[in-house]
Amino acid sequence: MAEPDTVTVPASAEADTEPTSPFLRACGGLPTDRTPVWLLRQAGRYQPEYRALREKYSMLEVIRTPELAAQVTLMPIEAFGFDAAIVFSDILPPLVGMGLDLDFVKGDGPRIGNPISSTLDVDLLGTPPAEETMAGTLGAIALVRRELEPRDIPVIGFAGAPFTLASYAIEGGTSKDFSRTKAFMLSEPAAWKRLLGKLVTVQADYLLAQAKAGAQALQVFDSWAGRALGREDYLRYVAPYNRELFARVSSAGVPVINFALGVGSYLGEAAACGGDVVGLDWALPLDEAWERVGFERPVQGNLDPVALLAPWRELEFRIDDVLSRAGGRPGHIFNVGHGLVPQTPVDNVRRLVDHVRERTAS
Ligand code: CP3
Repeated sequence: MAEPDTVTVPASAEADTEPTSPFLRACGGLPTDRTPVWLLRQAGRYQPEYRALREKYSMLEVIRTPELAAQVTLMPIEAFGFDAAIVFSDILPPLVGMGLDLDFVKGDGPRIGNPISSTLDVDLLGTPPAEETMAGTLGAIALVRRELEPRDIPVIGFAGAPFTLASYAIEGGTSKDFSRTKAFMLSEPAAWKRLLGKLVTVQADYLLAQAKAGAQALQVFDSWAGRALGREDYLRYVAPYNRELFARVSSAGVPVINFALGVGSYLGEAAACGGDVVGLDWALPLDEAWERVGFERPVQGNLDPVALLAPWRELEFRIDDVLSRAGGRPGHIFNVGHGLVPQTPVDNVRRLVDHVRERTAS
């Protein structure tokens, strides 16, 4: 119980206070004293300490154990001092709670043992609450938040967008041409609607639960819609569900990042689905992509992650190119335009972070 003379700050007033961390300030389009930087897949196989931990535990064991997931989340923060920590998990574990058998097979990526092949399979999918099915990740978020709060480094939660998750649920793994997914979408439009509707329910609940657990920003990954579909199919079969997802998640009270890969030819339409910040892949130069999104909207991106395999002189040139195209406008978060690859030299990650800091410090 609060003492009678204790001043308690209502949660709403707390949320209205301007953030101090460069990452959250940039998410709000506010000026920063340097450009914040974090990288997609910043925790992962390029780090020797991650590989050592994965010798002992499977991917799913790490994800389901809050202490282990928190430990991996913090590895790149301790090593490089990123401006934000993305909780260590994957986009696919929420499918397990819906009734799909997921495994990560070494060298082969994710596998679903019982992929969806009929309309009945869609109707059998459950939509249980994230508190029941994703407790490991929610616990990890709380642990990381407690650890990083004193350093003012925000924690990012995330989830997959409905099309990307549907593609794994139907193909049973990563696909080259998404033919099963598209055939299902075109042959069974009513079941497609039910499937994407269920995915919106589960992902919205999961994202809101992550914010409740302590995530200070949320990122939605739509990795494959842009690769699989032309604009008209995107607008008909995907955009309504993405819009619904962003609308539901906007009540979380934290910035939401909309990262849709490969949507170059309909970037404006994908960005219009929602989210406060637009994540940009590396297909277009940053200034051109930002102009299409609208300069009033904060953006995150967009170095080609494979540039980190180049010699420093080339990498430095490309980092500087992204920064000069951002032009010092408020609302730029430096990132890669897709996840770091396992061969990334640790030294280049360190030099990248230091370089972005030095180049942009005011
Ligand atoms: O640090 C971070 O960025 C957080 C961790 C994170 C992972 N996956 C860990 C992971 C995040 C944000 C993801 C998202 C994810 N997962 C996406 C969306 C982003 C993108 O890359 O497009 C997708 C499509 C997946 C599905 C997935 N998971 C694939 C295709 C693979 C296999 C490819 C690969 O890189 O191995 C995974 C496995 C995976 N997810 C690993 C990691 C660290 C590798 C597992 C291991 O062997 O240790």
